[in-house]
Amino acid sequence: MTHPFDAFADFHMGGHSVIVTGGAQNIGAGIARTLAGAGAQVMIADLQGDKSQETAAAIEAETGSRCLGMGCDVTRSEDIDAVVTAAVAEFGGLSTLINNVGWGPRHPDPTAISDDELIEAYRLNTISAYRMTMACLPHLLEAENPSVVNSGSFSSAVPAYDILAYGTAKAALNQMMVSIAHMLAQKVRVNSVLIGTVLTEGYAAAGLDPAIQEKLKHPDNLIGRTGQPRDIANAMLWLTSPASAWVSGQTIKVHGGGSVVRLLGK
Ligand SMILES: NC(=O)c1ccc[n+]([C@@H]2O[C@H](COP(=O)([O-])OP(=O)(O)OC[C@H]3O[C@@H](n4cnc5c(N)ncnc54)[C@H](O)[C@@H]3O)[C@@H](O)[C@H]2O)c1
Repeated sequence: MTHPFDAFADFHMGGHSVIVTGGAQNIGAGIARTLAGAGAQVMIADLQGDKSQETAAAIEAETGSRCLGMGCDVTRSEDIDAVVTAAVAEFGGLSTLINNVGWGPRHPDPTAISDDELIEAYRLNTISAYRMTMACLPHLLEAENPSVVNSGSFSSAVPAYDILAYGTAKAALNQMMVSIAHMLAQKVRVNSVLIGTVLTEGYAAAGLDPAIQEKLKHPDNLIGRTGQPRDIANAMLWLTSPASAWVSGQTIKVHGGGSVVRLLGK
């Protein structure tokens, strides 16, 4: 018996060429793996050049899709131009950009954040995504189903008192990307995933309160666990594939459904 209707066909990424920034590890690597597993060609662009190549080689072996890695600092225009040029040369075009780089330190005393720290958070989380998007734009405009998806943060949508610089920069990213979605209406879809707690090196380096992890397992939390890179990657697959062809300008929470604020009693 044949089944002519394939509901998964709209999730196939064959013919798509993707850049994933910060894809050498954790959430970014999970996104690269999932999109390659759906048939996309993927370029990982990460500060860690060697690790990018190792991760890309492992993904290519696992998925059979072309996956390359390249050293790139997304806060440097020369590096951005080099990685976009390389991806277009290797893949023959570019349909999809995942702006995944981000993070920032915890500030236990939110009254003592320097201008430099605020500016650095903005440079890494916000300006880099703008520069990457603009560098990719001429190629996205030539592609089928072009889209940009950003690794946003749930902390941009709730009080982020101990990660103020980071939360502020991620909130700016949301506003910037909704604006870009409107500027590129009917040409390129632009969406953001507001990510909840995924236990990664970046999360650990931010020095967030370990008690939050326990609270996220609380039975009152809607899902009752922290996230895995795959939880985020599956949302990214939907937002980059033709399955979300009618979705743009959105900030979509993928955070376990729970109210961290309520659980913290704040
Ligand atoms: N982990 C979480 O709980 C969580 C929650 C909300 C949002 N996010 C967001 O998800 C994204 C990924 O988070 P993660 O936890 O996997 O981070 P991570 O720190 O584990 O990985 C980030 C990657 O980005 C790379 N990178 C850092 N600076 C770079 C630069 N200037 N240029 C190029 N590459 C650079 C790093 O080398 C690393 O491979 C970030 O934007 C983060 O803000 C994460």
